[in-house]
Amino acid sequence: MNPIIEVKNLKKRFKDFWALKGIDLEIPPGTFVSVLGPNGAGKTTLLEILEGLQKPTEGVVKLFQREWTKENEKFLKQKIGLCLQETRFIDKLTVREIMMVFSSIYDVSKSRVDEVIDLLNLNDKKNTYTENLSGGQKQRLALAISILHEPELLFLDEPTTGLDPEARKNIWDVLLYFKKTNKTIILTTHYMEEAQNLSDYIYLINRGKIVAKGTLNQILQQYGKFVSLVFHYDQMALSQKQKLHRLLQKDQELFQFQLFEHEKKIKLVLKETKQLMEIIENWIAKLKKLRLNLYDLEIHRPNLNDVFLYLTGTNLKQESE
Ligand SMILES: Nc1ncnc2c1ncn2[C@@H]1O[C@H](COP(=O)(O)OP(=O)(O)OP(=O)(O)O)[C@@H](O)[C@H]1O
Ligand SMILES: [Mg+2]
Repeated sequence: MNPIIEVKNLKKRFKDFWALKGIDLEIPPGTFVSVLGPNGAGKTTLLEILEGLQKPTEGVVKLFQREWTKENEKFLKQKIGLCLQETRFIDKLTVREIMMVFSSIYDVSKSRVDEVIDLLNLNDKKNTYTENLSGGQKQRLALAISILHEPELLFLDEPTTGLDPEARKNIWDVLLYFKKTNKTIILTTHYMEEAQNLSDYIYLINRGKIVAKGTLNQILQQYGKFVSLVFHYDQMALSQKQKLHRLLQKDQELFQFQLFEHEKKIKLVLKETKQLMEIIENWIAKLKKLRLNLYDLEIHRPNLNDVFLYLTGTNLKQESE
């Protein structure tokens, strides 16, 4: 089967900054793909190029075997749905009114509008001004608009960022429903759980490059020998923190580390178990010497966050996970 998206050596430069440094993608129809990466990784830039909103500096981008040329624009726009990272609605229109505006652009029926309002659970908000919607409701409205014309390929840029767990769950339910209808979905996120729970295939990206790709199991198996050690402490002064950083940096060839100050934990991701006991004993001694009060130690197989930390030295999300 022909891929629905095919990207070869895609690069994007803004003045002297390379936001994308050679991306290759090959996505079969019906796949739910997550593009997972931290702030500034290049997710939005990648999506906007796929959506035809930005031009690549180099490389080839094909959707449905076609490039974004003037002749293909109308065809491609009918085939895709977009949910941008930030959507601004016209404040003084209600949910239904704004849906009607888009229905006339896409030439879809009134009954389809009501069907989508229903599907996105916006029935009791259909006469509410968009300015009075909550963050989660706005996201659902953006999703509703993006699927109005029944696109085959859907791009969703961080649809759940900033939402509370309940609102996030609501969006996930809708996305799982789309998944069942065999649409191809490309979603960006920096939530590991989102990529894990929804997608068939995951691209981990950092600083404009793909650092790992595969199904969740493929990625985890590839790094299956890794081990994560998490030391929990109760408090840490600034001087202790500075010393700790110096100590951790000295052992960089043994592991990647991350300090989660907010959650009061130190994570070490090791490439193998060979020196595990030695490292544990060593580090307990070192941390004690630093007068850090340790109260728990976890040892576990790596998750996607840990793989990402190992590969890039940074965490998917800044402070907590
Ligand atoms: N128009 C632009 N001009 C200059 N630099 C840009 C432009 N758009 C993006 N960048 C830079 O390119 C990099 C990637 O940005 P992008 O918005 O694609 O990241 P992202 O992965 O979507 O991040 P986030 O999770 O914060 O949305 C960033 O360093 C950003 O500052
Ligand atoms: Mg973005």
